[in-house]
Amino acid sequence: MKTNEASTSVPVITLDGPGGSGKGTVGRRLARELGWHFLDSGALYRLVALAAQRRGVALDDTDALASLARDLPVVFEPGEADEGRILFDGADVGDAIRTEEWGERASRVAMVPEVRSALLARQREFCRPPGLVADGRDMGSVVFPGAVLKIFLTASPHERALRRYNQLKEKGLSANLATLSDEIARRDTRDAVRAVAPLRPAPDAHVLDTTGVAIAEVVARIRGLL
Ligand code: DC
Repeated sequence: MKTNEASTSVPVITLDGPGGSGKGTVGRRLARELGWHFLDSGALYRLVALAAQRRGVALDDTDALASLARDLPVVFEPGEADEGRILFDGADVGDAIRTEEWGERASRVAMVPEVRSALLARQREFCRPPGLVADGRDMGSVVFPGAVLKIFLTASPHERALRRYNQLKEKGLSANLATLSDEIARRDTRDAVRAVAPLRPAPDAHVLDTTGVAIAEVVARIRGLL
């Protein structure tokens, strides 16, 4: 078993991939089954964008963004059976930051190298015994290069848009499938072409196409690779 660099003994499974590829749902379930911790790294980027809006910081003010990223007033409260809560300035913003609008802003702040390095230590703090499932874009390539298992999830653009649509509707948020599809495609392109930590499978990642595959089956396939 390989160990990761942030900690020499705690196993990490990384789940990277584009929006709507199922990373969050699969990752949470996998973490629950294994009794491991879960890192939703996308939420951190969404929260930097939220903090910028609340504190009146422009999305091109890199120094101020990095300082917000270093001192994010956030607490992740894991849930037993649900997604848990994300407390920002003491209030639960878990559902509010899920919209594509916040995804778009997160994708923009994620292009700033100073923000990425400010969040590095914070993400590695999630690596605690007995193990960690980490969901994001650069978990296997940058944050946890020594992970025991690296997965890159994909799915057809139509299915990814449909999954996002259903997720938003379940949370009672408004969504339009065609618009969502365009927005996700635009965001994926930005995430994939950026200079720092672009969305790309790590060389040693297993690429799993989840189009038409049930969540339980994806989780079982990943466990089969452990
Ligand atoms: O996974 P998500 O949709 O919540 O992520 C929102 C944005 O944050 C995504 O479009 C790009 C950025 N992100 C990133 O650059 N690196 C990560 N590890 C996670 C997210």
